[in-house]
Amino acid sequence: MSFTNSDKRTHYCTSLTEADIGKRVTVNGWCAKQRNLGTLIFIDLRDRTGIIQLAFDEKSDRAVFETAASVRTEYVLTATGVVRSRGADVNENRETGRIEIYVDEMKILCTSETTPFEIVDDKNIRNDLRMQYRYLDLRRPTMTKNIIARSEITRLTIEYFMQNGFLYIETPDLIRPTPEGARDYLVPSRVNPGNFYALPQSPQLYKQLLMYAGFDRYLQIARCFRDEDLRADRQPEFTQIDLEMSFSTEDDIMDVNEGFIRYLYKNMLGVELGPKFRRMTWREAMERFGSDKPDLRFGFELVNLTDELKDCDFRVFAGAIADGGSVRAINVKGGAKFTRREIDSLVDFVKSYKAKGLAWAKKTGTDISSSYAKFLTDGENAAIYDKMGFEDGDLILIVADKNAVVFDSLGALRRECAKRLGLLDPKEFCFLWITEFPLFEYSEEDGRFYAMHHPFTAPMEEDIPLFDTDPGAMRARAYDIVLNGVELGGGSIRISTPEMQKLVFSKLGITEEEANAKFGFLMEALKYGIPPHGGLAFGLDRLVALTLGYDDIRDIIAFPKAQNASEPMSKCPAPADKTALDELGLKIIEKE
Ligand code: AMO
Ligand code: AMP
Repeated sequence: MSFTNSDKRTHYCTSLTEADIGKRVTVNGWCAKQRNLGTLIFIDLRDRTGIIQLAFDEKSDRAVFETAASVRTEYVLTATGVVRSRGADVNENRETGRIEIYVDEMKILCTSETTPFEIVDDKNIRNDLRMQYRYLDLRRPTMTKNIIARSEITRLTIEYFMQNGFLYIETPDLIRPTPEGARDYLVPSRVNPGNFYALPQSPQLYKQLLMYAGFDRYLQIARCFRDEDLRADRQPEFTQIDLEMSFSTEDDIMDVNEGFIRYLYKNMLGVELGPKFRRMTWREAMERFGSDKPDLRFGFELVNLTDELKDCDFRVFAGAIADGGSVRAINVKGGAKFTRREIDSLVDFVKSYKAKGLAWAKKTGTDISSSYAKFLTDGENAAIYDKMGFEDGDLILIVADKNAVVFDSLGALRRECAKRLGLLDPKEFCFLWITEFPLFEYSEEDGRFYAMHHPFTAPMEEDIPLFDTDPGAMRARAYDIVLNGVELGGGSIRISTPEMQKLVFSKLGITEEEANAKFGFLMEALKYGIPPHGGLAFGLDRLVALTLGYDDIRDIIAFPKAQNASEPMSKCPAPADKTALDELGLKIIEKE
């Protein structure tokens, strides 16, 4: 049936209120549910805003009543009628629960087959079905709401940064690889056989070049592509709020972005975020929380027991210390209520972070039970209890290992314990800045340094003398913004001279020839008057998910990738046509 001008909506379903009672209105949408009570028919009509009830009775026009009787779930309708009160029959769970439309004209614009799952919230729908029929999944009210909220966050983002003098500039998607530490997605070039573009892991070099060009403040909602393994907070293609500022220090960049978060939370959630976000150096974050993205909603800080235990006879502890590692612990307040089985599962948990084991002690009343106390002297045990402030109800968890393993496992363990104890309130927002990251990260495996942020990050001025003596100890002018244990964004002040860029490349084992081949344009550009500059990128997906209270970014992405970076709906990736491969000069070699 064709859709004409007179069929067009006058209102979205939930824009109708009691103030509209008596008005003749037209609504367009989908039948969420039809109830036929013989002499009465009700249809819940759904559009992107929500649901309104359509009503029909024996006094309705015969043809209209019969049309209503034939409507099935997910039929597309246009309905016109007069808004009226539902009287005593109020649905308190619904925004429009006090009104309905008494319909006098209706058209079925399109019928629907029975959908593979019911289009409602609160149903456990199989994940693979949700992905395969994503357009139906997106009709579910919560999913619709999420995508609309994401749109609003995007709007507020552009609004805030534009109000603050940022220019919206697009950068290319077919580029030379920009290293951000992940694998590139490559795109073969037809007109330049044997050559490839990379899809951007981020617009990093282009936004720096925009500063070189004098644009001063840049913003882009940028698509980024990284061929890395999927996780709840990681997709192979994702979106950044990407920005760069000239003539700015770390403080300027952090202030502008903190202002953005405040603006967003106020306008999106009506939340006034408290005083200035905390700032913590990377070193302090690691020592106290075992993580460079600490969750500050709870305590359980790491305590270093190395001094107390370095001379003990327990090989597990003394051995780790003798090998240059440490023994550290957390005191999980209220953790004594964990059963033996639960504690065993915590042991398994730390093993997934490469810890070899987990020693524990718990106190219930005056009764102490422990996995390791028998291996230590009374004095050593007392020293631990004293330093940990061991009290009734506490559970002490100890890891002895190389520092990296100790931090990693205890950092994750403190959050796991807080989760099990129900201490993670998604409505509590603990933002903080982590500063003074190491410039380089040493890989034992590869026997070389990697850039901790990226190779264009400037070192801290006072650490420059360490280039020759101790590059591993150098700190970067880099910062991350963290929310409740998640890295929301990161950035840095950039290198702005060719000499410094050369020096950093050389420490990263990038030879001069390699640097010229890959970044020759950058090295050349650095010769021509470069302003001091820096920037930051937020993960938009993570920001939206956390703001709306989700752990999994797939809940706020319209068409996310599933496991193995595949997309089950359109079934990609897919083999390419032979003619396309021939044109590109590509041949598929089967892998063993
Ligand atoms: P970085 O690599 O830290 O910095 O990325 C910035 C932010 O992007 C988000 N993010 C992701 N989100 C979803 N899926 C992924 N696979 C993914 N990878 C990263 C994170 C992260 O904090 N060019 C620099 C920024 C700069 O220096 O200005 C960069 O990309 O929230
Ligand atoms: P074992 O000597 O293996 O019987 O271990 C004695 C106790 O020390 C047990 O509670 C182990 O879980 C614990 N343990 C073993 N390795 C470590 C480690 N690397 N860090 C902390 N505790 C450990």
